[in-house]
Amino acid sequence: MKSKVTVVGAGNVGATTAQRIFEKGYSDVVLVDIVPGLPQGKALDMLQSGPILNSDAKIIGTNEYDETEGSDLIVITSGLPRKPGMTRDDLLDANSKIVSSVVKETATRSPNSKILIVTNPLDAMTQCALDVSGFDSKNVFGMAGILDTARFKTFVSMELNVSVDSISAFVFGGHGDTMVPITSTTNVGGVLIDKLIPKSRLDEIIQRTRDGGIEIVNFLKSGSAYYAPSAAVVQMVESVLLDKKEILPCTAYLNGEYGHKGIYLGVAVKLGASGIEEIVEFDLTDHERSELNRSADAVVELVEAMKKNSYPSIF
Ligand code: NAI
Ligand code: 2OP
Repeated sequence: MKSKVTVVGAGNVGATTAQRIFEKGYSDVVLVDIVPGLPQGKALDMLQSGPILNSDAKIIGTNEYDETEGSDLIVITSGLPRKPGMTRDDLLDANSKIVSSVVKETATRSPNSKILIVTNPLDAMTQCALDVSGFDSKNVFGMAGILDTARFKTFVSMELNVSVDSISAFVFGGHGDTMVPITSTTNVGGVLIDKLIPKSRLDEIIQRTRDGGIEIVNFLKSGSAYYAPSAAVVQMVESVLLDKKEILPCTAYLNGEYGHKGIYLGVAVKLGASGIEEIVEFDLTDHERSELNRSADAVVELVEAMKKNSYPSIF
């Protein structure tokens, strides 16, 4: 029997994610959106690509939640994207209301599922999904680190004119200006990055990585990135559905790792059929550890604001 994935939000990230999963063929997909006709039209169009792309998966679009029942994985992309001049944090109030209502609808119909959050501000929305669903924290996680890491690897590859496949890197921390590229372990074909790129240039690459989302928002004007984000989501979906147990940078609930307890933060995890199966602790430098602490402080501040402003109307 095929797996079943629900993707909520049939906008740029959601529809592209649904398309990528459908084209792989190993999972049926339910695409949900609040806009009448939008998920139905996009899903039918994707279904009709099946005979050309050799996918026998089923995909349906709907504005209701009954069709999502029994999903293995719920991917939540519903919410507002950024516009030029906005930070991800500006989306907090509107998106926490959207995410909480979607989690209520989906978690009750698929109590044994896993929830993968994409909606921004990512770290706070993942906390919101945990609180509203009441699921075990290993089954509620977020996508950000794979995207941030892919941006970092892209810029390193451009700088050194090497294949992206030869670069090993991880970006930790919150999905925002405080993200932390772990340069002490970043290497190209086994050679540490600080032997290949002078510090001043590496700092510029790190800053471009931090600004990776807004660079695209400024080009698009009316939306944010979705090709790389959807590819990142599908890498996580695949690691769970195919029980690949890949070590990936994901937003996971910390229980004392790196000295933090009870918060979501981007770290390296083993991701498989049981969700976050392990948090892999790196031997960070003092500088990286203090940057990670700074990032954790920013996440805590945002979550506190969400609990104060939005939770009274959510709970
Ligand atoms: P979009 O505007 O293209 O799509 C959002 C969709 O959500 C729309 O179709 C809208 O109708 C739908 N929606 C809104 N309220 C809903 C509800 N209550 N129920 C069901 N559907 C609802 O936006 P896009 O570009 O797809 O981005 C979606 C979210 O993902 C944004 O918050 C964005 O910031 C975030 N994002 C996060 C990334 C990450 O790395 N974590 C990367 C890229 C985007
Ligand atoms: C990004 O980094 C919008 O968070 C999204 O592109």
